[in-house]
Amino acid sequence: MRVAVARAGLNLAEREIKLSADLDLPTIELSSSYSPRKVSDFDYLLVYRDSRLLLQGTGDTAIGELCVDFSDAKLNRRANSSIRNQNIAKALGLKGGLRPAVLDATAGLGKDAFLMASLGCEVSLLERSALVHALLRDGLGRAGYYGEEIAAILLRMKLHFGDLLEFETNSKQFDVVYLDPMFPARRKSAKVKKDMALLQQLLGHQTDGAELLDCAKLLAKKRVVVKRAKLSPPLGPCKPDIEFKGSSSRYDVYLIA
Ligand SMILES: C[S@@+](CC[C@H](N)C(=O)[O-])C[C@H]1O[C@@H](n2cnc3c(N)ncnc32)[C@H](O)[C@@H]1O
Repeated sequence: MRVAVARAGLNLAEREIKLSADLDLPTIELSSSYSPRKVSDFDYLLVYRDSRLLLQGTGDTAIGELCVDFSDAKLNRRANSSIRNQNIAKALGLKGGLRPAVLDATAGLGKDAFLMASLGCEVSLLERSALVHALLRDGLGRAGYYGEEIAAILLRMKLHFGDLLEFETNSKQFDVVYLDPMFPARRKSAKVKKDMALLQQLLGHQTDGAELLDCAKLLAKKRVVVKRAKLSPPLGPCKPDIEFKGSSSRYDVYLIA
């Protein structure tokens, strides 16, 4: 996947230059016809628009655009009070006023982390893709734009960059470790949401799912929760202790003895 950071002008593009250095990506000058690189040389561009960082497709094969926006209406409808009755709350094992400390070890676009934080959990988000981490950092950094209620939820979300498989596993710091790995290679007919399809195009399939689960079990004090497509097999060789099935997804829960 060919990605560049787009600049709107020759000067005063400090944040774009920093982003390209951080992500080790080339920059492309959009307003100049003398630019050595053309938009068509890339599949996706990272662009700042209306103070938001967007990943934008350039050609016919592009699936759309990605941006982390915690004011998204659909996400906030899910995060409303009825979320306590949803499978994600049951899978986390929420009881009474107890709110587990969660490591969302496959943070992605932060939607599941947002739902868990809206349930009152303190959520540490871990993401290993530098590009996805940059989008997530941008979305979390705009707390001031979202209004008080959303900003209060974001205060419970702490972002980290790194790979779960390299995480220090000799101390159990989290009650729950949550995993939502990328899909394995799947049949064409399977329905995948647009933003997840774009992530898939960008990052490829997950091949180390069983190792993720082993690592998560070492880190969790109480349980590991794995989000799966409804008909997918469990992540590792062992069957989960509890399953919560929804219309399109399933939560597999592994209890830590
Ligand atoms: C399907 S997405 C997660 C979507 C997320 N649950 C959400 O609500 O937006 C999976 C993400 O996990 C990340 N990931 C996969 N393996 C990882 C690992 N070993 N450590 C950290 N992040 C990982 C991928 O880079 C990708 O961004």
